[in-house]
This record gives sequence, C-alpha cells and structure tokens, in this order.
Amino acid sequence: MSGSDRARWAGQWALITGASAGIGEAIAGELAAAGAHLVVTARRADRLGALASRLRSKHGSRVEVFQADLRQPGAARAIFAFTTGKGLEVELLVNNAGFGAFGYFQEISSERLLEMVQVNCTAVVELTRLYVPGMVERRHGDILIVASTAAFQAVPFISAYAATKAFDLIFAEGIAEELRPFGIRVCALCPGSTNTEFQSVAKQPDRAFRFAETAEKVARVGLKGLARGETCVISGARNRWMIASERVAPRNLIAKMAAKMMHPEDARKGG
Ligand SMILES: NC(=O)c1ccc[n+]([C@@H]2O[C@H](COP(=O)([O-])OP(=O)(O)OC[C@H]3O[C@@H](n4cnc5c(N)ncnc54)[C@H](OP(=O)(O)O)[C@@H]3O)[C@@H](O)[C@H]2O)c1
Repeated sequence: MSGSDRARWAGQWALITGASAGIGEAIAGELAAAGAHLVVTARRADRLGALASRLRSKHGSRVEVFQADLRQPGAARAIFAFTTGKGLEVELLVNNAGFGAFGYFQEISSERLLEMVQVNCTAVVELTRLYVPGMVERRHGDILIVASTAAFQAVPFISAYAATKAFDLIFAEGIAEELRPFGIRVCALCPGSTNTEFQSVAKQPDRAFRFAETAEKVARVGLKGLARGETCVISGARNRWMIASERVAPRNLIAKMAAKMMHPEDARKGG
C-alpha cells in the first residue's frame, strides 16, 4: 500500500475476522502500520493476544481482542455487541475468517461442510448486515471480503469451498453497487494459493501451493484495491492471467481440468 492509500484508515477502527493467522494477521499488520486501531477476532485468543501486544508496541496502535467462534450462530451478534458496547465506530470491516475442506465430497462430514458455509458465508452476511446501517448513517465505511480465485469456477474436490467463495465474490460485487451511493466501498479480495495455515486446515495437497504468494503481499493487494475503490481484486499476475483465460473456455472443460489438477489419487501418489 502506498502512503496515500494507507492514510485513509489512520486513526479509524478496523474489525478483522480471522486475525489469528495468515491473511487476516497480515491485514492487521498492514493496518496497524497505517495508523489504524484494530478489533481482532478469531477462536485462538492466545494468538490474538500476542498479535495485539506486538502491534501495540511496534506501532502504538489501540488493539481490542475478542474471541469468537463463527461456527456458532450467535457469534456475529456477539462481536457487534462488543464493538458497540465499547463505543467503537467500525470504519473498516474485514470479513476474512474462512477455511476449506479437501477431498471426495462424500468423505467430508456433513457437519464440517455446514460449518464451512456458516463461517465462509452466513457469518459474512450477518456481520456485514450488522455494520452497514451505521456506515449508511455516517455516509462512509469500507468493507473487504476475502473470496478466492476458487470463486470463478467449479473446483472439484474442494467443491463446497469453491462455492462458498463464489458466494462471497458475488455478494461483495452486488452490495458494492448497492452501497456506493451511500459512500461505502466494498471490495472482494481474491487470492490464489497463499502460504498460510489454510493448506493444513483444508488438508490440501502441496502441488496446489507451488506458486503460493505470501500473506503479506495478498494483504497489501486487498487493502490497496479497496482504498482505490475497486470492487474485485485478484492477487498475482499469474492468477489474473489464469482467471482471464478461463473466461473464454467452456465451463465444463475448466471443471474437468480442475478435477485433474485436484484429484486426491494423485495427491496420494505425491503428485
Ligand atoms: N491461503 C490460501 O491459499 C487462500 C486462497 C484464497 C482465499 N483464501 C481465504 O483467505 C481467508 C483467510 O485464510 P488464510 O489463508 O489466512 O488461512 P489461515 O491461516 O488458516 O487463517 C484462517 C483464519 O480464520 C480463522 N477462523 C477459521 N475458522 C474460524 C471460526 N470457526 N471462527 C472464527 N475464526 C475462524 C482462523 O482463526 P482461529 O483458527 O484462531 O479461529 C484464522 O485466523 C479465508 O477466507 C480463505 O478462504 C485463502
């Protein structure tokens, strides 16, 4: 992010979900360096506490920690109650928390799949719905929604995950237009493979992460895109090229190619 992009959030409060690791933690670091105050949330309170101490001492930021499990239906409301209870005006909402589940659809438990929909989609809609009215009233506010390059096509063997990310992308692009007249900017950040804990949580094979980017780079791309009023940013030239080339190919061909690349049997052979 350039100095002028960063300046937008100096002295403002940003709420980041999934700030205990990966892209969310990197976004927190970028925003703290830009002079923003932070509310960080995730399940691992120890990680959040360590992050808060680090950012306070390095940047002098005000950092509030709130532990929440977004698999729980009441979690979004609890986060909102925490920030309103403290009188914090959230200028930037970062819907980043999310996870994937790799494998044959029938081998992933129903519970895990539905938790994924809850965290990746339902909680995103709920948190956004809670914070938007205040932003509309103030006539300003920013929302970053972390989608994925998986949002642009079917991805067999992470089919449900890719569908949750397609939801995030379409949701973000839709409300970006609805909310623009109210001074609110919304951007979908679409990373490709990124070196975070995502791969081990999703149990995804290494080969999908050969060209992985760093979380810090992805965080900068997302915040810069949002600051510049873009409604969708894809991180990485290689990823942008891949998505552009998919647009001209038949959808079933793309899905077949993705199935070949993601196939668990190849993963077992170490492919
Ligand atoms: N890494 C990639 O290759 C990649 C690519 C495209 C998109 N993305 C997206 O980027 C976002 C961030 O993922 P990441 O790559 O940074 O993965 P990560 O390192 O695994 O971080 C995921 C974050 O989400 C939080 N989270 C997961 N389940 C949660 C729950 N039930 N309640 C509250 N927080 C929860 C985790 O915190 P706790 O475990 O402490 O709760 C953690 O802070 C996700 O939305 C993911 O879909 C990642």
